[in-house]
Amino acid sequence: MTGSESRILESKILGNDQIAREIYCMTLEYEGWESEMKPGQFVNLYLNDKSMILPRPVSICEAEKGKLALVYRIVGKGTEALSSYAPGDIIRVSTPLGNGYDVTDIALRLGTDSSKTIVLAAGGLGVPPMLELAKSLRKAIEPNIKLTAVIGFQDEVFLCEELEQYCDSVLVATDNGSKGFHGNVLELMKAEGDPGDYYLACGPKPMLKAVSDYCVEKNIPIQVSLEERMGCGYGACVGCTCRIKEENDEKVPFKLKKVCKDGPVFRGNEVVWDD
Ligand SMILES: Cc1cc2nc3c(=O)[nH]c(=O)nc-3n(C[C@H](O)[C@H](O)[C@H](O)COP(=O)(O)OP(=O)(O)OC[C@H]3O[C@@H](n4cnc5c(N)ncnc54)[C@H](O)[C@@H]3O)c2cc1C
Ligand code: FES
Repeated sequence: MTGSESRILESKILGNDQIAREIYCMTLEYEGWESEMKPGQFVNLYLNDKSMILPRPVSICEAEKGKLALVYRIVGKGTEALSSYAPGDIIRVSTPLGNGYDVTDIALRLGTDSSKTIVLAAGGLGVPPMLELAKSLRKAIEPNIKLTAVIGFQDEVFLCEELEQYCDSVLVATDNGSKGFHGNVLELMKAEGDPGDYYLACGPKPMLKAVSDYCVEKNIPIQVSLEERMGCGYGACVGCTCRIKEENDEKVPFKLKKVCKDGPVFRGNEVVWDD
């Protein structure tokens, strides 16, 4: 959607179900996404309570014809309000925003080499966008290229079964060891003996930095989806900048980019991680 105006639609809520503790899946009636949407993009949800002016960005978890699924955690007033919306309610939602994962680059780099593996590395609320990403990769890549999801949670897990529909394996880590591997995503990746030839990551910044550093050290390509606090969500307020390394004439080592418009997905080796 870069370069084009964001549109705001009135969508009907089809479902808003709790799928884990404080985690909800909202399904929206959403026409006309097919030509616009890329995995890793997000929408902005405008709350019906007008005292909360700023929209809430939420990643696209799954898009089907005429329907959009979003998975969100209750963290504050806005997401608390969202959890109370019922099927039949109308909500204002922007068209998919930002740039998603570059699936073409993955397909080009891995070609038809069936010995290759793509790893989807995600933690917590970084897991939802992996579902639509896995689905898109299944369409875009050589069928024999392996797709492995390595996903981490604090304790309660969600979306594992959904990911299993598209991934060859779904490896789960929990911080407290209640399910799967006891530890974090990077520790699990290492325990599995470095399974990937291309990494796609989404999750908390420390996790993204750790996985990105690991890939850079091993010279493995990685795309990461960053999350910053957002104001407008479409490039007007400069509230969501991050630093991206860039060679330029002024010999400035990095450029400020907007996560909402230039991202949220960037190459891991280009992100300046240290604040
Ligand atoms: C690109 C992107 C994709 C996201 N995808 C998801 C997702 O799929 N599922 C999910 O649960 N959450 C996601 N988030 C985080 C989600 O936007 C925040 O949890 C939510 O905005 C919090 O709103 P609140 O009113 O409950 O919290 P409050 O803390 O009360 O929010 C106050 C203000 O800060 C902003 N804000 C708070 N936390 C964040 C945050 N982490 N990122 C951006 N803005 C924030 C809110 O939009 C609001 O304007 C995403 C954020 C971004 C930037
Ligand atoms: S949120 Fe306003 S510029 Fe990114």
